[in-house]
Amino acid sequence: AKRVSGGVDHVELMKHNTKDDCWVHLFGIVYDVTKYLDFHPGGIPELLRGAGRDATPLFNQYHAWVNYESMLKACVVGPFIGDLTKCE
Ligand code: HEM
Repeated sequence: AKRVSGGVDHVELMKHNTKDDCWVHLFGIVYDVTKYLDFHPGGIPELLRGAGRDATPLFNQYHAWVNYESMLKACVVGPFIGDLTKCE
């Protein structure tokens, strides 16, 4: 993924909320999961529920044990620096 220097805020995160441009926030980091969507074992629509927002609660609800950090290493956009309550 293209890394954003200085981090990503909620305004930027929320712009990427489609199947063709899908960013998610997970545990303080923003990931571009557009290319991962097709490979998500839970399916595209499920993963899209977290698109452009904080996917952490959904992620924990379904599979808190999944090692997303290693899986999404190549998908890091940058640290989240915004307000998560604004993109619920
Ligand atoms: C399954 C990864 C986000 C819903 C899985 C599995 C992996 C995975 C590896 C298989 C788990 C297993 O079989 O033990 C990821 C990653 C995510 C992500 C890397 C990063 C964003 C989400 C989100 C949701 C979700 C946001 C829900 C809104 C599900 C569901 C399954 C699943 C329902 C179960 C599929 C099944 O066994 O039938 N995911 N997931 N995932 N995921 Fe995700």
